[in-house]
Amino acid sequence: MKNPVRVAVTGAAGQIGYALLFRIASGEMLGKDQPVILQLLDLPQAQNAVKGVMMELQDCAFPLLAGMTASDDPEVAFKDAQVAILVGARPRSKGMERADLLQANAQIFTVQGAALNKVADRNVKVLVVGNPANTNAYIAMKSAPDLPAKNFTAMLRLDHNRAASQIAEKTGKAVADIEKLCVWGNHSPTMYADYRFATINGQSVKDMINDQQWNAEVFLPTVGKRGAAIIEARGLSSAASAANAAIDHIRDWWLGTNGKWVTMGIPSDGSYGIPEGTVFGFPVTCENGEYQLVRGLEIDEFSRERINATLQELEDEKAGVADLLK
Ligand code: NAD
Ligand code: LMR
Repeated sequence: MKNPVRVAVTGAAGQIGYALLFRIASGEMLGKDQPVILQLLDLPQAQNAVKGVMMELQDCAFPLLAGMTASDDPEVAFKDAQVAILVGARPRSKGMERADLLQANAQIFTVQGAALNKVADRNVKVLVVGNPANTNAYIAMKSAPDLPAKNFTAMLRLDHNRAASQIAEKTGKAVADIEKLCVWGNHSPTMYADYRFATINGQSVKDMINDQQWNAEVFLPTVGKRGAAIIEARGLSSAASAANAAIDHIRDWWLGTNGKWVTMGIPSDGSYGIPEGTVFGFPVTCENGEYQLVRGLEIDEFSRERINATLQELEDEKAGVADLLK
């Protein structure tokens, strides 16, 4: 049996937590032969609810669940964590944009970044789900100067999966056959889902669709505004699909993608004109526990405009939290 991996999850009593923890414990994230220890963090007033979730986890008798802890102290929850999924934050409600959450949620990530810096495993893989995810990941990364910046990522996978499903529907092909799709930028309506390089069974998706108006007027707004559409319909923000995207993100990072492109929000190395350190959605492949940026893609005029718009939004978000990072 392998040694258990310590997985910290924040916001454990919330709706994403409830859709996420059981799947981690069942081996869907790190593999069916990989035991895990869950280290759960939530606010003091949510500790009772966390206890209830732990009782349910216990009642599943998951063979891979090697232990569980709960705390309201990030330095306890993040101790020696090898994976940290930062979900805990306020979600938006009807009528709010994700940017409205900036002030409410940003402070959480300075505290949690500092705690990770102090107590987490030095190779901890961090995924920020709480919105605004890119800027929160940036704040956590900047608050953890002793950890490698590349360990901090933001969740763009939900946008990626949403884009894949829309393309499958449009082309009448299987979602599993779509390759080389990516989403650039911020997890917000400005994100740029890009199928110019995508193929289905070797055929160009762009050629199959051959409809730039659909791209600009249907596809991009549908993917960009999907979160709001779900809030409108459910009265609550997406939870099961968000948890599923978190599982996909960490699973691919941990176990590899066999050359397949996926989208991750990662600190830029300056490629594609994105300033170094900006946490931006990029196409990556994963191997041996590391992600690699897909390089050398041609950026046409339409794409450059979209990428610049989503970058501008991220720069504005960064400016909005600059005082927190002094
Ligand atoms: P929720 O309100 O159901 O749960 C949030 C949980 O976080 C609660 O249990 C709350 O007590 C806890 N929490 C709040 N502050 C905390 C802190 N400082 N430390 C630890 N725990 C804390 O919300 P949810 O629906 O689970 O959503 C969580 C976050 O995920 C929101 O910010 C939401 O906008 C975001 N989200 C992101 C994506 C994405 O694609 N990146 C998708 C869906 C939702
Ligand atoms: C989503 O995309 O579903 C989440 O980011 C929730 C939201 O606020 O849209």
